[in-house]
Amino acid sequence: MRILGISGSVRRESFNTRLLDAAAEVLPDDVELVRWNGLKAVPPFDEDDEAGPAPAAVAELRELLANADAVLFATPEYNGSVPGQLKNALDWASRPHATNPLRNLPVAVMGASPGGFGTVWAQADLRRILSRIGARVLDAELAVGNAASSFDEDGPLADDAVREQLEEIVAALSDSARAREAVAA
Ligand code: FNR
Repeated sequence: MRILGISGSVRRESFNTRLLDAAAEVLPDDVELVRWNGLKAVPPFDEDDEAGPAPAAVAELRELLANADAVLFATPEYNGSVPGQLKNALDWASRPHATNPLRNLPVAVMGASPGGFGTVWAQADLRRILSRIGARVLDAELAVGNAASSFDEDGPLADDAVREQLEEIVAALSDSARAREAVAA
């Protein structure tokens, strides 16, 4: 089973990317996490460009989504909502709406911020966007506030409570993907 990990941050030391890397450490045995690194290469969405071949980064994202059993998002919060670069990539991925690769795909959302609230507004908006696109959005939530204290300086997760919540969200996502496969079989 393959979970696609998408961080909404393109920053080198991103807490959200590190949170996804930490998720890769707590996977059930039969699950792998593949992280997509192409967000920065996605051009601004333009309906005029839909007539031609998809930009390479968009084609890669669509293929990764099509081959994923589930998606785990880690989103920063910018000005109370989802970072524009992540929304832009999702607008590309959502087209055409009826056959987009997120449709019926189990997805879970989490996020980390240096402030106290752990991106709860951005997560709520991202869940709404993903629902609108047609994904199966899990209710599970993981908001990592005061993120600097949750990670060791060189990267790994240092907070056992956060690790336990990560295990729970990954397990719930894997269960949802298995349930979807069982129905499809
Ligand atoms: C932020 N940040 C922020 N944090 C927050 O909790 N709520 C917010 O509304 C915002 N707004 C905001 C706007 C912009 C333009 C920037 C650049 C930053 C701070 C943000 O949480 C912080 O930079 C995180 O470290 C970003 O996540 P990554 O890159 O560490 O994953």
